[in-house]
Amino acid sequence: MTPRAIAIRLAEPRDAQAIGLMSRDFIEAGLGWKYDAPRVLRAIRDRETLVVVACESAKSAGDSRGAIAGFAVIEFGDERAHLVLLAVRPSHRRLGIGRRLLEWLLESARTAGIASVHLELRAVNEGARRFYRAMGFFETVLVPGYYRGAEGRKEGALRMLRVLRAPGPVPYTWHPPRTEDKT
Ligand SMILES: CC(C)(COP(=O)(O)OP(=O)(O)OC[C@H]1O[C@@H](n2cnc3c(N)ncnc32)[C@H](O)[C@@H]1OP(=O)(O)O)[C@@H](O)C(=O)NCCC(=O)NCCS
Repeated sequence: MTPRAIAIRLAEPRDAQAIGLMSRDFIEAGLGWKYDAPRVLRAIRDRETLVVVACESAKSAGDSRGAIAGFAVIEFGDERAHLVLLAVRPSHRRLGIGRRLLEWLLESARTAGIASVHLELRAVNEGARRFYRAMGFFETVLVPGYYRGAEGRKEGALRMLRVLRAPGPVPYTWHPPRTEDKT
């Protein structure tokens, strides 16, 4: 399989179950399951949230609609966006799918005038940390005990940030045409 066989698209309500299961297995394992299908469905329907999926083409997946190889969820504020979840199936990692998902979201964030994208990840997740560094994020703070796992076990989180533009109002570049511009 090559990255060319993968397409990125907006998630649809029928994807909520598969996304929820991927979050449980690849992101939230050992932490308790918060992003189950109903919560993912709310995110898909929320106007301030983008949920995207990376799908194999139906042909290479061998079924009528492409299997989901990865997904990501981002919430938009006025100036800040929060990357909530991002995962790629283990069988499809290191093929550039995570990069494509994240670049899609970063481009959307830029278009929406977002100044910075924030995220938290489990402090022990060295692979993801390296991935985000490769994608231009840097570490800001370590938050001990941020995640509460099964049996009350706590786990630290690392916050990371990617700056897209200087904070503050977006420069207003459009101006009405002047009458002397008319030919
Ligand atoms: C983190 C994750 C999303 C990366 O997805 P991916 O599709 O494998 O990443 P890509 O192939 O696009 O990698 C892009 C670059 O990031 C870096 N990178 C990615 N995974 C890495 C790893 N495990 N170790 C070191 N560097 C890594 C590399 O520089 C890579 O480029 P290269 O393959 O040309 O060297 C994936 O490993 C994953 O789903 N992990 C489990 C879930 C998770 O931790 N999510 C993040 C927290 S919410």
